[in-house]
Parts: sequence; C-alpha cells; structure tokens
Amino acid sequence: MFNIIIKENYAQVSSEAFRIMRETIRKENPVLGLATGSSPIGLYKKMIADHNTNGTSYKNVTTFNLDEYIGLPKNHDQSYWTFMHENLFDNINVKEENIHIPEGDVEDEEAECQKYEELLNQYEIDLQILGIGTDGHIGFNEPGTPFDSVTHIAELEEQTRTDNARFFDDDIEAVPTHAITMGLVSIMRAKKIIVIATGENKADAVYGMIKGEKSVDCPASILQDHPDVTVILDTKAASKVEA
Ligand code: F6R
Repeated sequence: MFNIIIKENYAQVSSEAFRIMRETIRKENPVLGLATGSSPIGLYKKMIADHNTNGTSYKNVTTFNLDEYIGLPKNHDQSYWTFMHENLFDNINVKEENIHIPEGDVEDEEAECQKYEELLNQYEIDLQILGIGTDGHIGFNEPGTPFDSVTHIAELEEQTRTDNARFFDDDIEAVPTHAITMGLVSIMRAKKIIVIATGENKADAVYGMIKGEKSVDCPASILQDHPDVTVILDTKAASKVEA
C-alpha cells in the first residue's frame, strides 16, 4: 500500500523523509536499510544536522546498505562505502561495527553475497530508504530480476551506467558493470519503506511503480504488495501519477 506525499521541491521532500526517519531512530535498537545516490543526500544532511544540534544518538543503530559496485576498493572515491562514510556515517555517532555494506572488491563475490544474505536474515529492517532508477530498479535489482531474488550479483543496465556516469566524470566506461545488491525479498521484508524520487526523469519509473502492472519489467512495482510504503515525490516526479 502506497502513501503518496507530493512536495514542491527537494528540500521539502528531504524534510518529510526525515520526519519519518526521526520516529524510527527514537526506537530502542533501530535497524536502518540505506541507499546511496542523489535521492537520499538531503535526508542524510538533515540527520547530520539533527545529530549536531539536538544530540540525537546513533550508538544503538544498525545499518545495512542496499548495494556496492563490484571491483571498486572500499576507499575508491566512488565506492558506496566511501559515499556512505562521507555523506552520513563519519558525521554521526554510528558504530563502525554496526555498519554493513556488501564488499565489492573481494575474490569470491558469490560467497560475499551469501555472507551478506545470512547476516541480513539475522535482523529485521525497521525502515528501508530507497531511491528508484529511471528504469524502475530498486537497489540494483534491474528489470527482469525475479521477485524472489535474494542478495546477488547484478549486471547493470546500460541505462543505469549512463545515469551514474555523472559520478564518474561523465565517463560511462569508468562505471562498473556489476554490483552486489540486496534482493527484492530482503527489501520487501523491511517493516516500513520510504521511496524518494525527484525530477522529471523519474516520472515514468514512479508511474510504473505505483500504477503500472506488477511485473519484473519494473522491479519497483513489487512494492505494490508491501503493506507500508511512503513515496515522497516532488511535483516533477509525480507528474504522471497525478495526471
Ligand atoms: C543506490 C541504489 C539505487 C539508487 C537509484 C537512484 O544505493 O540502490 O537503486 O537509489 O539508482 O539513484 P539516484 O538517487 O542517484 O537517482
């Protein structure tokens, strides 16, 4: 079931996401599912500001990230490990041992997927933050990914590599071709989900997620079956669902 919230701009979208986040981090031992990319950056900034201003503590928080590029060492400037540390973890008091991100620079990636899945299964995610790809992906579950997928190696679509080239000096060749991603089953297990989407280029994917046929062609459409999804959009991303 979708609760759809439409705001004028990205700042308001981020404030709305933070309002829900704040309820979750007040719980006893919250478990957060986190995303990288542009969409959650405003939310992370608000979490940092709140931590600095109000002393909100993350010492009992456990985090799981959705995905990581294969082949990038942790300290690569575009690894998701680096992204999360720079944009959130280094600026709040979450414990390093409570942070979980798949490792993309390992000898045996299949074993890493299995290890991550086993770890995930020991927890229940209270709040999962998601962005959505222009092709309808969530995590790196690209179109065609079976709805019963668990943590796996994903081949990135050309569209996704093109979209993400902006982080790699607009050089699509520099964008990794594969990633380790949490599967759709793990995302669906989260108690509560927030999807953040802004900008005109997300309008079709947002339409597919909410109003399209439930199909592996639009992986985000699986969320139609989740009992508690809040979709926070700006007017541009919402343009096709409003029509
Ligand atoms: C990131 C992730 C991706 C992004 C999606 C949207 O961890 O899993 O699914 O959420 O590609 O990216 P942005 O927010 O950069 O448009």
